[in-house]
Amino acid sequence: MEHLVINGQKQLFGDVFISGAKNAVVAIIPAAIMANGKCVIENLPNIEDVTSLVDTLTNIGVKCEFTEENTLIVDSSNITGYCAAYESVRKIRASYYLMGAFLGRFKKAEVAMPGGCNFGTRPIDQHLKGFKALGAEYTISHGIVKLSAEKLVGSNIYLDMPSVGATINIMLAASMAEGVTVIENAAKEPHIVDTANFLNMLGAKVKGAGTDVIKITGVSELHGAEYMIIPDQIEAGTYMIAAAIAGGDVTVRNVIPKHMDPLSAKLQDMGCVIYEGDDSIRIVSTGNLRPTNVKTMTYPGFPTDLQPQMTALLCIADGTSILTENVWNNRFQYINELKRLGGNITVEGRVAVVEGVKQLMGAEVNATDLRAGAALVIAGLAAKGTTTIGNIKYIDRGYEKIEEKLTKIGADIKRVKSERI
Ligand code: UD1
Repeated sequence: MEHLVINGQKQLFGDVFISGAKNAVVAIIPAAIMANGKCVIENLPNIEDVTSLVDTLTNIGVKCEFTEENTLIVDSSNITGYCAAYESVRKIRASYYLMGAFLGRFKKAEVAMPGGCNFGTRPIDQHLKGFKALGAEYTISHGIVKLSAEKLVGSNIYLDMPSVGATINIMLAASMAEGVTVIENAAKEPHIVDTANFLNMLGAKVKGAGTDVIKITGVSELHGAEYMIIPDQIEAGTYMIAAAIAGGDVTVRNVIPKHMDPLSAKLQDMGCVIYEGDDSIRIVSTGNLRPTNVKTMTYPGFPTDLQPQMTALLCIADGTSILTENVWNNRFQYINELKRLGGNITVEGRVAVVEGVKQLMGAEVNATDLRAGAALVIAGLAAKGTTTIGNIKYIDRGYEKIEEKLTKIGADIKRVKSERI
């Protein structure tokens, strides 16, 4: 078993290179299996979610070849089926994209209900509503979703809430439906635009991604293409928050600064200085932080996937901050772990009240999910003494070489193998 050991209170200086976006790649790899021909996917993050997806696809005859560390060639010419069993998909939430991709390509799909991070009820009713509107029937039994359609026919679909997963899944299936599909109240996250751009490179006709109305004109065949994944908004935000809490002068490179606006604005409120470049953001922090209030929202609001990291930061702000989680109904499970490090936080429903403390103190803690794990790393960077984080398999799901990237900018963090924790 591995864990991360951090000796805190080291200021951070230098450059961090951000990897490709996890939430884009987990949609783009499934999309690639709809193509007749090879897809070359560049700027691939080297993370466990990618490994799990590649294993799942390899099991059904898709040839997945890493040509360089961050480039993947997906060739589905010899794909043997449309089934993804629980054992192969249990670790990734985004396995649900295999439903849209299989359905698009085969008009059939059998995919185990998704696993991944557990921070509240994670229904897929909007995905299923979309597939049904396109003409698919479905059943769910023994944890497997089975979908089938004689043919898929475009339709108008109004989402009850702007769900990222449902928006992308419907885009996938509708790309290979007959006629026009319109998704209303669509989510607008950067990875939705990235997936739409990839689909269009394959010959799909997706318009309006990034707005709340997306129009997809179905095509009968998709072809191979080369594509470069966008930088990861959440990884970039995590390193910005790390710099804010530890103090120092850090430039995150290979980012789209516009995607960082909701976080940059908050960090400025708190007293950090932010300089935007074309594809970089420099953050200068003294580590003396003012409190602030944060409400998570769908894009372009403050991302829920930066909420735990932000809570860690607010723990040492000079006063009281209020954090409201509007997207998920149970995304505060990690707070008990932050309390072990000395955080003074009270949770009432979807609201966390954070009373800033002078100093966090190192302790043994466990990651409860991916971003919660990142929050503990951030808290550990500021804490006095040693913080030992267990369950880091969650962190590895979404962060490429986190300890190497942090060490390079001056953190004292090591991955250690041990029987303990
Ligand atoms: C994606 C992200 C996840 C992020 C979330 C919100 C991926 C792989 N994961 O998750 O990291 O936290 O967006 O930005 O991209 N909902 C329903 N019915 C549905 C679908 C969603 O009620 O059919 C609800 C959810 O319970 C939640 C909200 O809608 O409260 C948002 O969920 P959604 O945007 O679908 O999140 P995911 O796609 O699962």
